[in-house]
Amino acid sequence: MSYQVLARKWRPQTFDAVVGQDAITRTLRNALASGRIAHAYLFAGPRGIGKTTTARLLARALLCTARTGPEPCGKCAVCVEGLAGTLVDVIEIDGASNRGIEEIRTLRENVKYTPARGRYKVYIIDEVHQLTEAAFNALLKTLEEPPPHIVFVLATTDPREIPPTVLSRVQRFDFRPIAPDALRASLEHILNEEKIPFEPATLPVIVRAAEGSLRDALSLLDTAIAYGDGRLEAETTAKLLGATAPVTVRAFATAVVEHDTGAALEAIDRAARDGEDLLAFARDVIELLRLTLVLKAAPNAKPADLTHTEGNELRKLGEATGLDEILYVLRAFLEADALMRESPHPRVELEIATVRSPRRPVPQALDDVLRRVDEAQREIRQQALATPPATPAAQASLLPGAEPAAPRAEARRSSAPAPSSAPSSAPAPPRASTPAPPPAQRASSPTPQSAPAPAPAAPAAPPSQDLVTAWERVVDEVMKKKPTLGAVLMQARPTGVSDRELTIVLVGNHFHREMLADVANRELVVQAVRRCVAGAERVNLVAGGEAAGAVATQVDATAGGGMVTVEANGKQELTAIKIDPEVVNKEDVQMLEDLVLAAANEALRKSRELVQQELGKLTGGLKIPGLGM
Ligand SMILES: Nc1ncnc2c1ncn2[C@@H]1O[C@H](COP(=O)(O)OP(=O)(O)OP(=O)(O)O)[C@@H](O)[C@H]1O
Ligand SMILES: [Mg+2]
Ligand SMILES: [Zn+2]
Repeated sequence: MSYQVLARKWRPQTFDAVVGQDAITRTLRNALASGRIAHAYLFAGPRGIGKTTTARLLARALLCTARTGPEPCGKCAVCVEGLAGTLVDVIEIDGASNRGIEEIRTLRENVKYTPARGRYKVYIIDEVHQLTEAAFNALLKTLEEPPPHIVFVLATTDPREIPPTVLSRVQRFDFRPIAPDALRASLEHILNEEKIPFEPATLPVIVRAAEGSLRDALSLLDTAIAYGDGRLEAETTAKLLGATAPVTVRAFATAVVEHDTGAALEAIDRAARDGEDLLAFARDVIELLRLTLVLKAAPNAKPADLTHTEGNELRKLGEATGLDEILYVLRAFLEADALMRESPHPRVELEIATVRSPRRPVPQALDDVLRRVDEAQREIRQQALATPPATPAAQASLLPGAEPAAPRAEARRSSAPAPSSAPSSAPAPPRASTPAPPPAQRASSPTPQSAPAPAPAAPAAPPSQDLVTAWERVVDEVMKKKPTLGAVLMQARPTGVSDRELTIVLVGNHFHREMLADVANRELVVQAVRRCVAGAERVNLVAGGEAAGAVATQVDATAGGGMVTVEANGKQELTAIKIDPEVVNKEDVQMLEDLVLAAANEALRKSRELVQQELGKLTGGLKIPGLGM
């Protein structure tokens, strides 16, 4: 026997076999059982979800001569003819090719004749929305006063195109796209019945591509089986459907979770070059992260989509990271998924999520400390730019609000190197004008230690001046309007506002500079800066060298005998803060704060030393002419 396509072979022969339209089949069965049949039905809904199938079942049930319950008997002459599609009393009309008034007039003539065999004649008009207006009007007359032996089933994928006059004369059923689980179960059932070997990972790939249509799912299955030479393999099926292979998706998710941003971005690039559907890719990543989350939270769960090996791989991925981290990454990709649908640059949205997701904000406990560190860092940077070489004022400004703290840390952990060594190695600054005593003096002074009640480590300076935060808002605002430009701005850092001019240093390549040389782009940035950065009206762009960075040398500093390590780069950015879990003590957050401050202080001092030589070059030579915005 020749191969029969699965959709045809598996067309349901009973209402019971119709998948995912339970409310509809139940109502129809009740109507059949009670004999309360409407004159006209409308079956509306997207393609391939059972409209024609159900219409034919209804017709056969109405015509079946041996029906006892709601289902057609399947054995009487009518049922047998029905299966063969040769029933004269079931008239199927394709609305797309019989859309004119003539055809409907003929129909109106024919409905007068009684059925050849039983009590009913059933007209199934498919794609009824294609009828012309005149044809609809002609049909309306029949729908108003149909002969008692006539039942109409109008089917459409586009009910909005049907005149309200028609809608008001039909009993309407809205067929729903079939849920992924139900699709998957149907495919599995059919594959088992057909004895076709399959990898379970194939099913989600097909289910997703079918978008709720069982017919589409079955014809994809046909193609994939033919392609796989009678077998169904995940890898080849994914390739066939332009989807990303499951192992690649896994590799990508692993790279993201392990903070290997480079590898993750390469995977996106490769997928894009291979013409894979990035939206589908993002959804696969989300599904995989979701499963990882489930397995992390409930290690004994057995998600249906996974083989034993895959389950173990995801458990391992989950072990490598924290629940919060997975949640955070998952949320980033969920957002990207939503943005990708709207964005003219879906790929950029995906890349942004990839770059952002490992940069999870630290939990609340450390937030405060880091804000203060940020603040201090900003001030140092401003001072360094304004009056290089920087004065110890910058150094001192690290500590307002926490002034008694640093020495306390010193006293407790005498190895904390930071403040005491600062002034000695700093380039000779004019000390007379410093508002606070240099740390060395304070450290050696007995006062703070003997002070009866040290000031609580309240948040340091008011955040109103927080240039870093303001700049983040600028980037976010631009990102919303133009993601590509926003991505470029992510590589720039603000260094200070003076004379109503915000200076930003752009670490980027020639392409990035061109983006910012564009007049329209420039205007976007300036507008955002005016809104977000207090006191800034113009923008001065300074090139910070190619991506590698002219000042990227790493420095580090420790406090508390290595319990806290802070790394900074030559751009005066803190690049890492490592805290020995042993020092994390809920009872004494202040000590931890002190250690972090001390180490950050020192790291920034070292970094500042480094940058001082470099800043000369930046502010001197490299101002790009056409870019004074
Ligand atoms: N709900 C369903 N339950 C079981 N099989 C289904 C279902 N929907 C679709 N199928 C399968 O898909 C095939 C096509 O379905 P059907 O012709 O009923 O779709 P349709 O909704 O009329 O689509 P279209 O709008 O494209 O005409 C069926 O032969 C059957 O194999
Ligand atoms: Mg149909
Ligand atoms: Zn029958």
